[in-house]
Amino acid sequence: MQIRHFLQFKDFDRQEYEYLFDRTRWIKNEFKQYRRYWPLTDRTLAMIFEKHSTRTRLSFEAGMHQLGGSAIYLSTRDTQLGRGEPVEDAARVISRMVDIITLRTHEHGVIERFAENSRVPVINGLTDEYHPCQILADIFTFMEHRGSIAGKTVAWIGDSNNVCNTWLQAAEVFDFNVHVSTPPGYEVEPERAGLYGTDHYEQFVSPHDAVKDADLVTTDVWTSMGFEDEADTRKNDFADFRVDAEMMACAKEEALFMHCLPAHRGEEVDAEVIDGPQSVVWDEAENRLHTQKALMEYLLLGRIGVR
Ligand code: CP
Ligand code: NVA
Repeated sequence: MQIRHFLQFKDFDRQEYEYLFDRTRWIKNEFKQYRRYWPLTDRTLAMIFEKHSTRTRLSFEAGMHQLGGSAIYLSTRDTQLGRGEPVEDAARVISRMVDIITLRTHEHGVIERFAENSRVPVINGLTDEYHPCQILADIFTFMEHRGSIAGKTVAWIGDSNNVCNTWLQAAEVFDFNVHVSTPPGYEVEPERAGLYGTDHYEQFVSPHDAVKDADLVTTDVWTSMGFEDEADTRKNDFADFRVDAEMMACAKEEALFMHCLPAHRGEEVDAEVIDGPQSVVWDEAENRLHTQKALMEYLLLGRIGVR
């Protein structure tokens, strides 16, 4: 079987996502019924993390165990990567010892170099530019609550970061629209976002205009990991971009609210929104587990048919 990596959302096509979502539904149901499903017995996942994580680490580690395999967590602190071993050498060695690798790192170029030198599938657990596993879970969550996302409007409020870029790629794959509202100076950079065009998103100066008629409102931290030096400036620049109840009221009545987490209540979102009735953030977080189990199954076993 040809090795596939999952480095950006656009690495898979819509049919593959539909297959993954079918598998996710089945895998999630087995999990909820406490039924054992061990297709990855004796397989090992290496998880190399150069940044902090709660959800990504736990969902991959627990997910691999639940599929019958084992997972090894390696932080930069523990490995020679943290002491300057070339990424290419690390990829060559690690991929001779395990079956699949998740990497969380800084510049996307690092994961590309790692994947080029890996003998086994590499999954992007977040880079400065993209977070494909997050949007895999987010779209699955949207579908569970509202059905197909095609033709819908997603409002992204705040920083045009890795999560935003991935929403924009997903809009091209699934044919929906993203209304983006960022402070001046933080606008989407289509090339950095890896987009084919500009047909699937629109930038708005006012966040209230961006959320008008949206089916989903979503945001993320104002300061992503690696940009901590800018935190004070960003607090000022983003002050008008907090998702609050008044902003949510401009969206459709049935609009959902999502946040990849971790969240800062009182900064990018008010407590009454994230803890309110439109918020699906806990389902969103849980679905990281189920979607990534389907992803690992697919990368290691290919299509195995939907039961
Ligand atoms: N959403 C997300 O990726 O969370 P972690 O940083 O906790 O993994
Ligand atoms: N944009 C955030 C996402 C964390 C899951 C960051 O990169 O820190």
